[in-house]
Amino acid sequence: MYTANEKRYETMKYNRCGSSGLKLPAVSLGLWHNFGESADFENMRDMCRTAFDNGITHFDLANNYGPPEGSAETNFGRILKEDLSVYRDEMLISTKAGYYMWPGPYGDWGSRKYLMASLDQSLKRMGLEYVDIFYHHRMDPETPLEETMGALEQIVRSGKALYAGLSNYDGKTLERATAILQDLKVPFVINQNRYSIFDRTIEKNGLKDKAKELGKGIICFSPLAQGVLTDRYLDGIPEDSRIKTDGRFLKESTLTDEKLSKVRALKSLADKRGQSIAQMALAWVLKDDNITSVLIGASRSSQILDNIRAIDNTSFTEEELTQIEEISAGV
Ligand SMILES: NC(=O)c1ccc[n+]([C@@H]2O[C@H](COP(=O)([O-])OP(=O)(O)OC[C@H]3O[C@@H](n4cnc5c(N)ncnc54)[C@H](OP(=O)(O)O)[C@@H]3O)[C@@H](O)[C@H]2O)c1
Repeated sequence: MYTANEKRYETMKYNRCGSSGLKLPAVSLGLWHNFGESADFENMRDMCRTAFDNGITHFDLANNYGPPEGSAETNFGRILKEDLSVYRDEMLISTKAGYYMWPGPYGDWGSRKYLMASLDQSLKRMGLEYVDIFYHHRMDPETPLEETMGALEQIVRSGKALYAGLSNYDGKTLERATAILQDLKVPFVINQNRYSIFDRTIEKNGLKDKAKELGKGIICFSPLAQGVLTDRYLDGIPEDSRIKTDGRFLKESTLTDEKLSKVRALKSLADKRGQSIAQMALAWVLKDDNITSVLIGASRSSQILDNIRAIDNTSFTEEELTQIEEISAGV
């Protein structure tokens, strides 16, 4: 029987999510990859235990994580049941709907019909009565924003989610959504967006500044650019890496000579700071006080342990920041 490490809260930092009452661990664990049907169950279980044992209270899922869709939630439900259910009140579990989930007009995008049905399915797969955060997963150009936000309202009112979140929104749409959710008195607290040394979209589309202005948190996904911002690919492409074992979203063509030379330049800087490349990449995201958490993925527990230590040093000198800007220019 699993018993959580008694010292689990000693080293993690917890950051307030915007101006809400909710705190998130500075490092959160996502189950997008390596939790599907063909992944090794004991390894998944070990990663969840390692994360929780080290103060990672937040586990991020979505209806479509797998493959196949739904299987990450099913596997996480089994881990919860076997190991973690007694710790439910110490955990923050999130899920989402917004990408393709089932055939026909009701299993994709942002209709009320889709969101309500999808969350019911997610709860069943995970064996939960509620999730802590339910996200709309991406902006829907066709469904009226009022309808999608109205669905989030009903979901929260029904007690099936405690907080609402938005993922992959831009600054302008975030502002409109916030006004609607505020009118409806929905506890909307968090944005989930991609952000890393190599991906500055939220600096350009207004999301980062607008979230701060509105007092909303930001949790940043793919902070390691899916593994590129680590030492993983510096000596070729390992057989057990995401590019080889999955390849749906991270392709070999991403690894241009130019990108690898940038990663090598970042490594020299990380070495000087006494950090791994991964630790420095995560620290760089966490340096801003309006970033609530970095949402990492992992294929083994040792990566989680390496990444957690990023929180030991999240401050950068002006010179280091300038160097990072120069290295990452033109990615
Ligand atoms: N809202 C959205 O639309 C959205 C989209 C994408 C992701 N997400 C969320 O964000 C989470 C994280 O995304 P991500 O997996 O792309 O994040 P990531 O942290 O950028 O990449 C994780 C991958 O990097 C490698 N890695 C991690 N730590 C390492 C270390 N210390 N040394 C060497 N390699 C290391 C591993 O790859 P190997 O497998 O090669 O070992 C791992 O699977 C997802 O699980 C999901 O919850 C959300």
